[in-house]
Amino acid sequence: MTNKELVDLAIKSMKNSYSPYSGCTVGAALITKSGKVFTGCNVENASFSATVCAERTAVFKAVSEGEKEFSAIAIAGGKEGKVQGFMPCGVCRQVLSEFGAKDMKILVAKEDGNFNTFTLNELLPKAFEGDFI
Ligand code: THU
Repeated sequence: MTNKELVDLAIKSMKNSYSPYSGCTVGAALITKSGKVFTGCNVENASFSATVCAERTAVFKAVSEGEKEFSAIAIAGGKEGKVQGFMPCGVCRQVLSEFGAKDMKILVAKEDGNFNTFTLNELLPKAFEGDFI
């Protein structure tokens, strides 16, 4: 699967977003080192803090299926179904850092149809890690 195909899957996953409160639709597509793909969307809740982001939906799907080694995640999000370059939130960066290597790729879909590529380390330098505990 190419990076562009992974980004397209993230865009497709936006359609499953359950976001009646914010109107922000977010999709994610995660690829493991073994080449398996897991998608996710944001799932909101009337009790706002119970909301789960698209990225964590994809990560938890993967981990619950026994997959813990990730090579990349694509993210697509914006308001009212548009792709507006939404970046992963801090909580999702921390959850990704539990499993992803520092050079894990984070692909963020842009409004113009292209995508930006970051590494996890760029988005979460000096992460709090399990080794500290
Ligand atoms: N959201 C995500 O799905 N991923 C992020 O990384 C940032 C925010 C969702 C959560 C909520 O449903 C909406 O976007 C507005 O915060």
